[in-house]
Amino acid sequence: MMNVLLLGSGGREHAFAKKISESKLLNQLYILPGNAGTARCGQNLEGSPNDAEAIKKIVWEKDIHCIVVGPEEPLVKGLKDALRKDDVLRDVIFVGPDAGGAALEGSKAFAKNFMKKYGIPTARFKEVNETNIHEGIQFLESLQPPYVLKADGLAGGKGVLILNNPDEAKEELKNFIFKNKMGDAGKVVVIEEFLQGIECSCFVFTDGIHYQLLPFAKDYKRIGDGDTGPNTGGMGAVSPVPFADEDFVHKVRQRIIEPTLESMRLEGCPYEGFLFIGLMNVGGDPYVIEFNCRMGDPETEAIFPRIKSDFLEWFKCYHEKKLNQFVLDIDPRTACVLIMASKGYPDAYEKNKPITISSALSGNCMLFAAGIRATDEGWFTNGGRVLALCSLADTLHEARSHAYSEIQKIHFENAYFRTDIGADLLKYY
Ligand code: AMP
Ligand code: GLY
Repeated sequence: MMNVLLLGSGGREHAFAKKISESKLLNQLYILPGNAGTARCGQNLEGSPNDAEAIKKIVWEKDIHCIVVGPEEPLVKGLKDALRKDDVLRDVIFVGPDAGGAALEGSKAFAKNFMKKYGIPTARFKEVNETNIHEGIQFLESLQPPYVLKADGLAGGKGVLILNNPDEAKEELKNFIFKNKMGDAGKVVVIEEFLQGIECSCFVFTDGIHYQLLPFAKDYKRIGDGDTGPNTGGMGAVSPVPFADEDFVHKVRQRIIEPTLESMRLEGCPYEGFLFIGLMNVGGDPYVIEFNCRMGDPETEAIFPRIKSDFLEWFKCYHEKKLNQFVLDIDPRTACVLIMASKGYPDAYEKNKPITISSALSGNCMLFAAGIRATDEGWFTNGGRVLALCSLADTLHEARSHAYSEIQKIHFENAYFRTDIGADLLKYY
């Protein structure tokens, strides 16, 4: 029986917590710091997932057998390396990569140079810093609009600008590098050619030797219907993705996943844990938009309800490097996830609105808490993305209509959700 420590506090972590709490190998689940939803699956602990010293202490005190990391920051900052250095990980399962692997997300310049070196398809790019900004300007002049500027480091999902006007692109490039627009994250900038296509999210779980492909998902990043307005963390998700057919998946495995994992081994840092590959489907060919060293949010809330396997058995096989012996049991139904957000999100948003649910959600629906604070008087909003509602049904059409009818039961003042999640995918059926 296992004691598990899960790090993070979003809807993704509630989805992890729910699955872990259902494992027959679980003794006790702790979540650092968790949210109102994870508190129903285990015990929330106070503290920061970035505090390696505090995590070491929890591992000793609570006799933790397995650590699962939801967000990227602790991984990019080297949590696994710090625990390994102090011999904490000798008998502890750690689901996630070390800092070398997490650099695929932690530095866009590292990821782009890595892809270039190993011939992994991605948009053409130029890495720019204060010493070669003129080359960046020249590169921008060689491109057709729109222009893509990316801060090299972690920027909480706000590090990418897509601009139509060349003068504005040059100005913003200078703002990144000289005016600290993105803080230290933007001191190095990746300028990319714009890829025209349809995006999807690909997830891999790997023990460093073997890998498994998880169901594909599609995320809806913009705040407004019809993919309008500013980027968000994600306003909804659908899984599976109808255009990720056998031919496309074959190309993704051959051209992207296998060379990426093999090349990371060659670079001396075999990747372990979940790898999230943001893909652009350009006329049937996959290109990498970004790597993330973690699961996606809200994609996880669409994918995990479709995984029927025991998560702790799965993580045990991962630790023993026997993932090739573990067959994932996938529910063939379609999941549609809607995010309910606070007014103002993704900018400054309202907080502390009481949340009510007028009647019980139907059996094929699951609610995952994200920005929710539990009090003696009930649940209150406490974040931009407040909750995720996942509906499972035999068809996308049913999953959508079911999700949109069930969400009517959930109320808080000025709640906002997109009304077109999954609508663009109906034409593929
Ligand atoms: P990222 O943080 O790298 O995922 O970028 C945020 C969003 O910007 C992506 O989800 C895409 O919608 C868009 N994007 C990033 N890079 C490109 C590109 N080279 N071409 C087109 N769109 C892009
Ligand atoms: N949904 C996109 C992300 O998790 O980065």
